[in-house]
Amino acid sequence: MAKVLIVGGEGRAHALSWKIAQSPLVEKVYFAPGNGGTSQVGENIDINVSELNKLADFAKQNKIDLTVVSPEMPLAEGIVDLFEKEGLKIFGPSKAAAKIETSKVFSDSFLKRHKIPYPDSTVVSSLAEAKAYVRQHPPQSYVIKADGLAGGKGVILPETQEEAETALGDIMAKKIFGDSGNQIVFQERLRGQEVSTFALSDGENILMLPYLQDHKRIYDGDKGPNTGGVGAYTPVPFMTDELDEQVQKEIIQATVDGMRSDGRPYKGVLYGGLFITEAGDPKVIEFNCRFGDPECQPMMRVIDEDIYPLLMQSAEGRLTSKAIRIKPGAAVNIVLTSGGYPGSYQTDYEIMGLNSVEDPDVVIFHAGTKNEDGKILTNGGRVLNVTAYGKDLKNALAKAYAQIGPSGIHFKDMHFRTDIGFRVLNH
Ligand code: AMP
Ligand code: GLY
Repeated sequence: MAKVLIVGGEGRAHALSWKIAQSPLVEKVYFAPGNGGTSQVGENIDINVSELNKLADFAKQNKIDLTVVSPEMPLAEGIVDLFEKEGLKIFGPSKAAAKIETSKVFSDSFLKRHKIPYPDSTVVSSLAEAKAYVRQHPPQSYVIKADGLAGGKGVILPETQEEAETALGDIMAKKIFGDSGNQIVFQERLRGQEVSTFALSDGENILMLPYLQDHKRIYDGDKGPNTGGVGAYTPVPFMTDELDEQVQKEIIQATVDGMRSDGRPYKGVLYGGLFITEAGDPKVIEFNCRFGDPECQPMMRVIDEDIYPLLMQSAEGRLTSKAIRIKPGAAVNIVLTSGGYPGSYQTDYEIMGLNSVEDPDVVIFHAGTKNEDGKILTNGGRVLNVTAYGKDLKNALAKAYAQIGPSGIHFKDMHFRTDIGFRVLNH
């Protein structure tokens, strides 16, 4: 029986562990550091996701069979390289392969070199060049992307030239994201539908996972500032078999093949942020080197087989499955946030109603929570993920929303969107 270490403590980590712990092959799950809900699944240990040496020591001492990395930061810092050097099994890409997320300049040149469908783009390395670009192009024709990680805030869709110039000054001169702002990628602004696509890889073979859509803006109607994501659902009705085949071949397999031929074999989960343009063509706007959050939560609700062997096969470089069993029906995730998020917010409010959930189709995954003397308190911007499975999207949404409010789950200043799924429900 296997022991698994999950590195992370977000909603995504809780959802991954919930699924992994159902495996008959898995005996125990540890979290570093986990959150107020993960202790229902396993044991939280007091090691931070950036303490790579401590994590490796823990894995050795406790004879961990597989470590699963949830967020990008430890991947960017080389946790996979360290574990593999120590002979420890770990699910995720090496530091060199994680560059597909950690440098937009790298992924820009990678996508172009391998002729993977991608918007037109221009890379600049100075504020003067950036300002020249802005003066030559209408502001609503492009998006601005800082090269490196920027906590989800490095993408700007300017409405005016002034807005673009201010953002560029902040990123390239004031360095609000540090060295992440040394270079900028300008991408052609695409119109169409966005979809999140995921696949497991062992460096060579791929296994496609369900498509999802997420909601990035904080307010209903996709208004207000961008967040890490405040709602998600699957399936995505416009992803036809034909489009799926095209994405699989021209984007996912082409990327895994390209990374291998570039000497950066890609293992782990590859997350492609795609646009399906108005002309119906899929294009990559970004890659991530991890599961999506909040997409992972409903994804785990619809996968209808044991994922532990698949994660292990990816880690060991021998992914043999060609397809994954998915439940019919739909799954949704409504994220409950602290009032004020993605700006500043208060924490330490007690969460009420967590024990009132009786519907077996509803599963709550914790994100920014902590357990203090048996009370669950808010401890972050994204607090809880209310996921539900149903026969269709409407049904799943009704089950999830039925749990939220004064007679169900609530906390002081709680915020959530009431229109998750509206883009496909109105079609
Ligand atoms: P990201 O942080 O890279 O996921 O980007 C945040 C959001 O910006 C995406 O979810 C899109 O809505 C938008 N975006 C990014 N790139 C483009 C693009 N080339 N065209 C249109 N919208 C984009
Ligand atoms: N849902 C967006 C992300 O995980 O980056």
